[in-house]
Amino acid sequence: MPRGYTQVGIIGAGPAGLMLSHLLHLHGIHSIVLEARSRSYCEERVRAGVLEHTSVDLLQQAGVAHRLQREGLRHQGIEIGVDGMRHRIPFLECTGKCVTVYGQREVVKDLIARRLDDGGDLRFECGDVSLHHLEDEQPLIRIHKNDAIEEIRCDFLAGCDGFHGISRASIPAQAIALYERTYPFAWLGILAEAPPSREELLYMHHERGFALYSMRSPRITRLYLQCRPDEDIRDWSDDRIWSELHARLACADGWHPTPGPILQKSITGMRSFVVEPLQYGRLFLAGDAAHIVPPTGAKGMNLALADVHYLGLALHAFYRRGDEAALRSYSQTCLQRIWKAQRFSWWMTSLLHRFPEDSPFDRKRQRAELAYLAASRAAATSLAENYVGLPLDPI
Ligand code: APR
Ligand code: PHB
Repeated sequence: MPRGYTQVGIIGAGPAGLMLSHLLHLHGIHSIVLEARSRSYCEERVRAGVLEHTSVDLLQQAGVAHRLQREGLRHQGIEIGVDGMRHRIPFLECTGKCVTVYGQREVVKDLIARRLDDGGDLRFECGDVSLHHLEDEQPLIRIHKNDAIEEIRCDFLAGCDGFHGISRASIPAQAIALYERTYPFAWLGILAEAPPSREELLYMHHERGFALYSMRSPRITRLYLQCRPDEDIRDWSDDRIWSELHARLACADGWHPTPGPILQKSITGMRSFVVEPLQYGRLFLAGDAAHIVPPTGAKGMNLALADVHYLGLALHAFYRRGDEAALRSYSQTCLQRIWKAQRFSWWMTSLLHRFPEDSPFDRKRQRAELAYLAASRAAATSLAENYVGLPLDPI
């Protein structure tokens, strides 16, 4: 490649940017990935950890699932609890499919290692990046670093720089529509050094608020508590966190989460967000840059992988046959899946959380919905097929 040129300039080294760069490499397409943060920051950042059946297939087909296959925890269902009583949703029986619990940061580590092994051009700590001439045949990335400016000409740009990145912000406001919903609560999440004492994830609806029991490995549990969005993490001592987790998650059969040293804790707000379309000129958005889901349905990383699967195929069709049809329909193809995941994530969130503004009628309706889910195979199957991942549409 001539200096200062790449076929696809990718902004952001999260799962979306890294997987896209890898998929393009498999098709013989050159890319450069520009990431604001350091490699270790990207590899250590604590994020979600459930891979849909569909995502595991994509990672396998791309040859980057060796460690995932060894270390990932295959889950054949989840449990939904209401005030200490649990009900299992059997994914395998309902759909023939499973999910795999494997931290997003492990996916990121695997992809970075593979890109570097393959001689990929990944540039960390790129600081200040700006995008120009998006409507031209060759848009431009400008990198400002240590008083120097570097320019990279590209055939295409992929905005994979998350919700707060510069890619979406580089599109003129009148060219896109934003759809957004915020929620009157947040999640306080912890990583704890304690072996999981349940086989599967437990989503608990409780009078005191929602709680989630999840895990990362045979040594580490991951737990969440619904809290106020304006809460300060400094008000949550380790003792207070464990006592609240105990109050919400303890079950009528005597099970309760095993406490252990807290390795990390943070509070994350919740929102649903979609931008339409996902394309402006030669810039294509993917992952959190284009959409955010509340974490209750565990869809964030999965949607990012599905987006770049489609973008990789579309760029391949362009370079191999000069066929632009899939690039033109990229946005529409992704949006079909994105809105289904939005609906599911909103529904799981509404089903399981306490909403401060809920009327007595709303509470009764919510309880009835939880009871229906526990009693109806059809309702369980609907949850299961969305959770394990809807099939990818052929393009
Ligand atoms: N320049 C370069 N890189 C940037 C910039 C910028 N101006 N702004 C942000 N970035 C980087 C971030 O540091 C981050 O590493 O872009 C990357 C975006 O990665 P993610 O936030 O992981 O987003 P994505 O790859 O779309 O993956 C979506 O991440 O937030 C979770 O729940 C979400 O699981 C989902 C997944
Ligand atoms: C997690 O393990 O981090 C996790 C699991 C399920 C969710 C969200 C997060 O719905």
